Amino acid sequence: MFRLFVYLNILGAFLVTGLHIVEPGPEYPASKGAIWPRPQMQSIEIPYYKFDSDILEIKVVDHDCPILSNAVQRSLAVLREMLRIASPYVNRNAPQQVLDDDTYDGPLKSLSIYLTSPCEEYPHFGMIESYNLTIAADSTLRSSSIWGILRGLESWTHLFHLSDNRDQLHINKGEVHDFPRYAHRGLLVDTSRHYISMSNILLILDAMAMNKMNVFHWHIVDDQSFPYQSERFPDLSRLGAYHETLIYTKENIQTVIDHARNRGIRVIPEFDVPGHTRSWGVAKPDLLTHCYDQDGDYVGLGPMNPIKDSTYTFLQELFHEVQALFPERYIHIGGDEVDLDCWESNPEFQRYIQEHNLTSVADFHALFMRNTIPLLSENSRPIVWQILRASHQLIYSTGWYLDHLNTGGDWTEFFNKDPRDLVNGLSKDINVDNIVGGEACMWAEVVNDMNIMSRVWPRASAVAERLWGHESQATYQVHCRLEEHTCRMNARGIHAQPPSGPGFCLGV
Ligand SMILES: *[C@@H]1O[C@H](CO)[C@@H](O)[C@H](O)[C@H]1NC(C)=O
Ligand SMILES: *[C@@H]1O[C@H](CO)[C@@H](O)[C@H](O)[C@H]1NC(C)=O
Repeated sequence: MFRLFVYLNILGAFLVTGLHIVEPGPEYPASKGAIWPRPQMQSIEIPYYKFDSDILEIKVVDHDCPILSNAVQRSLAVLREMLRIASPYVNRNAPQQVLDDDTYDGPLKSLSIYLTSPCEEYPHFGMIESYNLTIAADSTLRSSSIWGILRGLESWTHLFHLSDNRDQLHINKGEVHDFPRYAHRGLLVDTSRHYISMSNILLILDAMAMNKMNVFHWHIVDDQSFPYQSERFPDLSRLGAYHETLIYTKENIQTVIDHARNRGIRVIPEFDVPGHTRSWGVAKPDLLTHCYDQDGDYVGLGPMNPIKDSTYTFLQELFHEVQALFPERYIHIGGDEVDLDCWESNPEFQRYIQEHNLTSVADFHALFMRNTIPLLSENSRPIVWQILRASHQLIYSTGWYLDHLNTGGDWTEFFNKDPRDLVNGLSKDINVDNIVGGEACMWAEVVNDMNIMSRVWPRASAVAERLWGHESQATYQVHCRLEEHTCRMNARGIHAQPPSGPGFCLGV
């Protein structure tokens, strides 16, 4: 043991003795006022304006609604907070920039918001998110949808940066024309393997809005725990959650949906069936299949039982409740990783195969899905894992598992994956135009409230930019922008980890 230890140390020392010049300072200096994700079109001019909350007037010129007024208040709070955080670091010895600088164009007088159509109540698939932003002394933000206005206000706050002596917020003259490349830009959060608190879920939604992500895919239950509190079947969480306090009540879920809606984020619940349902069986063992070993001895419960009518009666009632609670048309019903061996091991299933002329146990999966999909309410759209058929719309997530870690700034691996190339690589039969977006996935085997924020952010920001529009690789400039964006998230209470290496954020 001792010799091995010494040997490894020598090897380590040898590896770092090559010529390696280190310069002082951060590895990637943060950009100043760069929008993340990078907008489709942007022009930046040299003249700049100063933010003064006593002077700036935000005018909602056309349609208005609470989502809009809340977002305006949040944006102003962000700007004031930037100044407050910077205040202890003001450098009084630095030259006074504004007074003797002829590129200074005076204070920002107004931002006029033109929402040209009435607000929609809930974000939805295919919602309009494009916006135009013109920065001048009298600035304008324009969109035909409330969701575009939200994206534009987010960009607007990103454009502000601190003056060199840090006592003022500046914004450069310029224009932004922006729209997303993909309609579905999601983050999956697994709250079954570890329970994630409400306060962290709300913070995750805040961070998603900062990154213009628009789908919170809530993988709410799984084999290990059932934290969804059902009104119709309260025993599911009373017995199936890790603990009676580690649950999401109806009110909790409504809070999440409302917080998300105010940020233009859809909430898609996932109830993965017929596999990944062991925790359901604590309260309802009859739902699940009995599995047997080779000697025919009972060994435990497996996937849902697809040959009992009572399974479908139950699912219909549960889905009915879930679909009444979530305004989203889409519901994820999983369908992945079913233990076929358990179905195969059960003598009842063998009889069923013979009586119904099935060719193999895999047919039970098709049978289950065929019986389950019609149980969903009429205009709902089911989503399942791993369907790679040419005729289906596709949400890409394979290369974006946030639980896969590498050393250093491993966000670049997520950033450099383009869904089109990857889907092309999987099968030539798939039309890449069927890709409607993608999701970063935070499977929670080894994350909980202690580390989820730093595991997700800023690594999911890489996916967010890729899905919004960036089509090239993670260049030096992208690193510098992510440096700024991470400090920005930190300043807004998101415990994002340093993205790429040595560096600093002031005041957070
Ligand atoms: C934004 O500006 C572009 C170019 O002028 C224009 O084509 C587009 O319709 C504008 N979009 C909105 C939402 O106003
Ligand atoms: C199964 O196949 C046999 C022979 O082809 C046929 O007689 C029988 O009706 C079939 N049973 C069912 C349930 O389809």
